[in-house]
Amino acid sequence: MPACCGSRRSTVALIAVDALDELDALVATVLSGTRRPARLLLRCLPPGQRQSRFGMNDAELATATEVCLRAGDAVRMEGYSFHLSGYAIQPRADLAAHLVGLCLKARVQGLEAGRVSIGGGLPVSYTDADSWHAFLSGQSSRHYHAGKSFNSGDFYPYYAPAAGADALRALLAARPEGHAGSLAGLLKEAGVELLMEPGRALLDRAGATVFRVQGVKERGGYRLLTVDGSSLSLSEQWFNSEYLPDPHLISRGTDAPSGTWPACVGAATCLESDMVSWRKIPFRRRPGIGDLLVYPNTAGYQMDSNESPFHDLAVPPKVVVDHTGRPRPRWRLDRHFT
Ligand SMILES: Cc1ncc(COP(=O)(O)O)c(C=O)c1O
Repeated sequence: MPACCGSRRSTVALIAVDALDELDALVATVLSGTRRPARLLLRCLPPGQRQSRFGMNDAELATATEVCLRAGDAVRMEGYSFHLSGYAIQPRADLAAHLVGLCLKARVQGLEAGRVSIGGGLPVSYTDADSWHAFLSGQSSRHYHAGKSFNSGDFYPYYAPAAGADALRALLAARPEGHAGSLAGLLKEAGVELLMEPGRALLDRAGATVFRVQGVKERGGYRLLTVDGSSLSLSEQWFNSEYLPDPHLISRGTDAPSGTWPACVGAATCLESDMVSWRKIPFRRRPGIGDLLVYPNTAGYQMDSNESPFHDLAVPPKVVVDHTGRPRPRWRLDRHFT
């Protein structure tokens, strides 16, 4: 979360401190040099997610606050942060309100404490409500390779009634538990600035991941495609879920679409579990060797963070398509990654 501290000065990043030893290390780093004060938030362990690996509990937060006070000018304690798993609005509103309360207390103690970061968790909506609910009620193990089964709760919520910026609107309008007014009103009244760290939602409709079909195997009623990639390229797969948007099949052949050709997609390694799609995807053409599978909307989580050179496959090159201020889009390889 870099933020600018003045037009002529270089950027000083705002750091969300996750543990007491991190805070000690940060203070020691500043004190050991002629560095500028560290800008920090204290990250809170969500009361509703006590098993989380991240954040500090109440006692640790109290100690951290003391450390900040003792550190004097070495740190600028700008407030608190959290990141909740899941996409529910109300727990975010409740916890944000709780952190506003912590800011007010810390200010009384003499700290700056003017900001609350709510992390990420704004959902992306990939489909409409009817399609999503029809999929959930109709899906069963016969729709997947090897009789694999998924419960509804195993999937990312591919339909969200309030996604992206609408989720933020809903959050600001929500009434935190124990408060009469909205979260927006509370923030305003307390003079606390809301920060957020959207990941997936920021990259909605960006990016596509392309695999080349290397083999096609008949498996009694469906096909098993093998592609030149890894399930690590689609993050849902490595946390035992399924990336559900259908890939587009770019065929080398010129036949017109003819019927339905269900196929699952296996990755290039020898692991049974290394599947790019367990689901029997109903292609409109018969997939063949050399065809391309283009998975849409994969920038958030699916691409850079997950691709690795572990299997000796080159990390896929990225293409930048630039259509700003030009009559026709231009493309180039993204040198940063090649
Ligand atoms: C601290 C933090 N902030 C932001 C995000 C991004 O979350 P999302 O992609 O759900 O917006 C994550 C993801 O795990 C995170 O751990």
